[in-house]
Amino acid sequence: MKEFTPIKEGKVREIYDNGDSLIMVATDRISAFDVILKNKITKKGKILTQMSKFWFDLTKDIVPNHMLSTDVKDMPEYFQQEQFDGNSMMCRKLKMLPVECIVRGYITGSGWASYQKDGTVCGIKLPEGLVESDKLPEPIYTPSTKAEIGDHDINISFEESIPAIEKEFPGKGEEYAAKLRDYTIALYKKCAEYALSKGIIIADTKFEFGLDEDGNVVLGDEMLTPDSSRFWPLEGYEPGKSQPSYDKQFVRDWLKANPDSDYLLPQDVIDKTIEKYEEAYELLTGEKI
Ligand SMILES: Nc1ncnc2c1ncn2[C@@H]1O[C@H](COP(=O)(O)OP(=O)(O)O)[C@@H](O)[C@H]1O
Ligand SMILES: [Mg+2]
Repeated sequence: MKEFTPIKEGKVREIYDNGDSLIMVATDRISAFDVILKNKITKKGKILTQMSKFWFDLTKDIVPNHMLSTDVKDMPEYFQQEQFDGNSMMCRKLKMLPVECIVRGYITGSGWASYQKDGTVCGIKLPEGLVESDKLPEPIYTPSTKAEIGDHDINISFEESIPAIEKEFPGKGEEYAAKLRDYTIALYKKCAEYALSKGIIIADTKFEFGLDEDGNVVLGDEMLTPDSSRFWPLEGYEPGKSQPSYDKQFVRDWLKANPDSDYLLPQDVIDKTIEKYEEAYELLTGEKI
């Protein structure tokens, strides 16, 4: 049996090279305040992978995506073990475009900070009088570029995304930049409206796109998971303050109250967190994990 080692190990995901394809594995690791916690959140990896699969299926008529299979039987023998079952996705290899495609339907986080300074987010002027966590009149596209490893990404305007792409893909900057913006907004609108009908606010999210062999723009990475998005419970939503995170609120609250914990959480906090991931999955998909 051929052994595989990850070509990339992120905080939460591991990526394996499989020749023509990639295998992306979501682990049960969880990070909070940019630190990987010592506990595992059982089933989190599986839930996140199945959630991406759900959204990829729902939106394949808007834009093609990189998903090939989430069934380990379609993958090399090495992946046919318990630790990869359900949490692995075989994907088409893409040439990634150098822009993180962020869309915001609500104002929070770095967008809220920027608005408070000068009334804009990534060069977009917003109406006066918005309060924290307010819904925006229309979702806005606020791209960023990947900074060097370790640095935070840099927010840019749509106009600035054109030369960023042009640099790597001469003659294509304008075309790809416009496609990324239009796809991003269309994907967010459809999915946020759907999630809202199930009781979950998707405040903002990030997509990544790449090119396939024929030069088509294809949606890659993970899609609309709590790791790439801000999910808020609709119940109790109240603008004018920050909102609780759907999945990580218990973890963050406990860590703040226990600064000396060294990032080891008690079992009841873990259990409640697992329940939140299951609940989000069940609400969104209408199925049990
Ligand atoms: N289909 C794909 N083909 C090639 N690279 C991809 C594909 N989908 C996602 N990627 C890339 O895989 C990497 C995933 O890494 P990740 O664990 O999210 O860490 P980070 O975002 O910090 O680099 C990203 O660089 C992303 O752009
Ligand atoms: Mg990433």
